[in-house]
Amino acid sequence: MKKVTKAVFPVAGMGTRFLPATKANPKEMLPIVDKPLIQYAVDEALAAGITELIFITGRTKRSIEDHFDKAYELETELEARGKKELLEIVRKTIPSHVNCIYIRQAEALGLGHAVLRAAPVVSEDEAFAVLLADDLLDNRGGEPVLKQMIDVYYYNRCSILGTMNVPREETSQYGIISVEEHAGASLRVKGIVEKPAPEKAPSTQAVVGRYILTPRIFDHLRAIQPGAGGELQLTDAIASMLKCEAVLAHQFEGVRYDCGSKLGYLQATVELGLHHPEIGKEFAAWLDGRSSRASGKKAGKA
Ligand code: UTP
Repeated sequence: MKKVTKAVFPVAGMGTRFLPATKANPKEMLPIVDKPLIQYAVDEALAAGITELIFITGRTKRSIEDHFDKAYELETELEARGKKELLEIVRKTIPSHVNCIYIRQAEALGLGHAVLRAAPVVSEDEAFAVLLADDLLDNRGGEPVLKQMIDVYYYNRCSILGTMNVPREETSQYGIISVEEHAGASLRVKGIVEKPAPEKAPSTQAVVGRYILTPRIFDHLRAIQPGAGGELQLTDAIASMLKCEAVLAHQFEGVRYDCGSKLGYLQATVELGLHHPEIGKEFAAWLDGRSSRASGKKAGKA
């Protein structure tokens, strides 16, 4: 098996939970402070040594391609005005050694269907990463989550799922795994079910939007039938793959923000805003003042 150099970013979903913001704009282009969600996921992949980015796109997703493309007019204008720092920011969305591939998913028929679209550009002897940009995984000061998972992959050479423990009452929002045995710091996956009710969940280990998959996943995706919601589910293909080969769960170090939901998106905005090099301190002071004012301790302006 070769090195992991390819990452798939399924970005063809409809983003209905953010309508009307996502009527004409992709959910993945919503910014957290000043960077779109997709850029956080791409940066995480680049930090893990990924050099080929495969975007599975759909209608209304053109701005993702534009974001990672050269912006001639803007760059010329910034250059003419001597705005070197801004020019640098605009140019560094993708380093020059990195390749972008765009594949259309004509209809949003599910995450599994989106991942299967990448099959023609992944060879039979290479594992690849899948990153869902609406799961923002922050491990400031430590190893980026995808890097942690690729290290586990190099040691074990099998598919790896990024997982975290969730409160039992939330299992119906996730793919939940059952675990067979410990394999070092990782867990060997025995089963996986999509969105089980709390009383039926086999554990509270939930799969988040990070995967390292062996290319055999494509055979399983081709073989399974549409599942929940009439969509081709990646979870079902992983469940099928488990019968043939080992899959490990890596309980990642870091914090996950569910930016596909309004609450998670706001939490990420506040948390990353507080640590932002430019406005972090000012924002923290404003938040402090705001909570004091709200609790009536201090009079102040709104
Ligand atoms: P979600 O389940 O969050 O769906 O997809 P969604 O359509 O984006 O958002 P809501 O639920 O309607 O608000 C998880 C990830 O899988 C991608 C999405 O773009 C998102 O990154 N996806 C989903 C596809 O690329 N294609 C699909 O057919 C479905």
